[in-house]
Amino acid sequence: MLITFEGIDGAGKSTQVSRLQEHLQNQGRVVLTLREPGGTPEAERIRELLLESRHDFTPVGELLLFAASRAELLRKVILPALENGTDVILDRFFDSTTAYQGYGRGLDLDMLTEVNRIATGGLCPDVTFYLDLSPEEALLRKFSEKSLSLDFDAENLDRMESSGLDFYRRVRDGYHALVAASRKRIVQIDARLSPSVIHQIIISCLDSIDPVTGYRP
Ligand code: TYD
Repeated sequence: MLITFEGIDGAGKSTQVSRLQEHLQNQGRVVLTLREPGGTPEAERIRELLLESRHDFTPVGELLLFAASRAELLRKVILPALENGTDVILDRFFDSTTAYQGYGRGLDLDMLTEVNRIATGGLCPDVTFYLDLSPEEALLRKFSEKSLSLDFDAENLDRMESSGLDFYRRVRDGYHALVAASRKRIVQIDARLSPSVIHQIIISCLDSIDPVTGYRP
């Protein structure tokens, strides 16, 4: 089973990813947790390129780098794991590209669909959990996290995080459009709920999926 997590930076995906991994492992399932971009030595190099703030990319260049990272991770790690019966939890997948590069950067959505199809070879998650949070709240969370660390510096944001509030508003609109278009696959959860409540929602949703047909009532 392929389970993906989506949401703007600061929505709390990593907490939910690790709680779900622990839950599935306690059920005796073999679980592989990954995050995009990255996950292979080559994709990690691409991640550095994409996130280091000293780099500057055109929107199409940025799109193709995310796609290249995905193509590597998918073919070298995700597909072999799924073929072995391993459950894969993925922190971000092609919905991030639609939301960030499509709605955020304003690239043509039909072109994005095609690039996503090439990068993924058509693989689609069984279920996607989208943690919904306003960019304002996400920013507050991010700053309070960073201010706790000794190396806090307001300019210490990565290249994507420096894109501004309007960018993140468009990204969130993009996620809402994706949810509206893929209600069978994407489950929207209010990220302001407590981590334990969000975890319970995720568990009950997964428990309701028919293991044979993948049907979710
Ligand atoms: P990361 O530090 O992993 O952020 P997060 O913890 O929020 O997932 O950085 C990944 C960044 O890359 C994040 O800002 C979202 C962005 N991104 C895209 O713009 N397009 C994509 O296709 C993917 C996978 C990520």
